[in-house]
Amino acid sequence: DPLPLIDPFARPISYLRVSVTDRCDFRCTYCMAEHMQFLPRKDLLSLEDLDRLCSAFVGMGVRKLRITGGEPLVRRDILTFFRRISRHLESGALGELTLTTNGSQLARFAPDLAAMGVRRINVSLDTLREGRFAEITRWGRLAQVMEGIAAAKAAGIAVKINTVALKGFNEDELFELVAWCGGEGHDLTFIEVMPMGDMGEELRLDQYWPLSDLRARLGARFTLAETDETTGGPARYFRLAETGQRLGFITPLTHNFCESCNRVRVTCTGELFMCLGQEDAADLRAPLRAHPNDDAPLQAAIRAAIARKPKGHDFDYSRARVAGQMRRHMSHTGG
Ligand code: GTP
Ligand code: 5AD
Ligand code: SF4
Repeated sequence: DPLPLIDPFARPISYLRVSVTDRCDFRCTYCMAEHMQFLPRKDLLSLEDLDRLCSAFVGMGVRKLRITGGEPLVRRDILTFFRRISRHLESGALGELTLTTNGSQLARFAPDLAAMGVRRINVSLDTLREGRFAEITRWGRLAQVMEGIAAAKAAGIAVKINTVALKGFNEDELFELVAWCGGEGHDLTFIEVMPMGDMGEELRLDQYWPLSDLRARLGARFTLAETDETTGGPARYFRLAETGQRLGFITPLTHNFCESCNRVRVTCTGELFMCLGQEDAADLRAPLRAHPNDDAPLQAAIRAAIARKPKGHDFDYSRARVAGQMRRHMSHTGG
């Protein structure tokens, strides 16, 4: 199928994010509820289904595949899945195979992931302090994640740290985080917290730390040089002139980047979400399962869905109240 996927706003879709599980061993407060009802196993796509689905997207022009969750590395047999998908790297059809992880299982998986062609991973890390880490993840162990990050580095995988900017939580660690990433050679991206999940409006507003403010604080100490570098995601990158270190800003609230959106998401049950910030989803599990030997219905369902990709999200905190909130948790679509 040679026709590339182009949405109604002329945006080519070249980046697929696939959530392979809704489960996670942590419960980051801005991402999940403390007591989550996880999906029964029978609702999950099998690894074979997920492979077929990803391969269909690759056949339709997707060049970048990011595996997410929940926590992708808690899915049973996940290495088998990576091994299968890596054939698309070898053939050149796929440009990048990567994942976003909390890092807890990386010490175990990093060497195998590297062997399967993973060159770069994103690790979520909001604080360098053990007590705070346990608080934000609800019970995670910082040392375990640090071991994971070190294992990735040792395996030759480039690490980008994702830090959700949270007012009153990691505000006072801004320089420490920058210095630590600089010292370790990791890229660092800050992310504005998005209103997803059933958390109260008040808490959301209390936590919201606009990156314009974070940037001003960094600017008081460093010279931030804008770059046109991209990793193919939503971050805008800067370099600290003093250290050469790369810093990314993901600003859905203060600087909407939907105009250049190149991505869609599939959940572990085969729902295709055309936008992170909208409710609309298309069911891909039905065409997958009803036609085990024919991809045409699946491709048709994908095209029909892309044809209704919305212009962007409606997240907004600017009038001192939360607008555009999604009821589903971030963990449902893997961010
Ligand atoms: P790179 O390949 O390194 O550019 O990664 P990425 O930023 O595409 O992926 P990652 O999983 O690291 O996402 C970082 C943050 O950006 C998460 O909080 C995501 O929810 C958010 N994000 C990623 N894509 C989108 C998007 O399309 N829209 C919005 N609003 N947020 C996004
Ligand atoms: N707002 C912004 N980023 C979030 N993430 C999870 N929940 C939110 C939220 N509500 C981030 C995680 C991870 C990435 C996939 O999404 O920290 O790095
Ligand atoms: Fe794309 Fe929707 Fe994200 Fe905007 S919010 S960048 S349109 S997925």
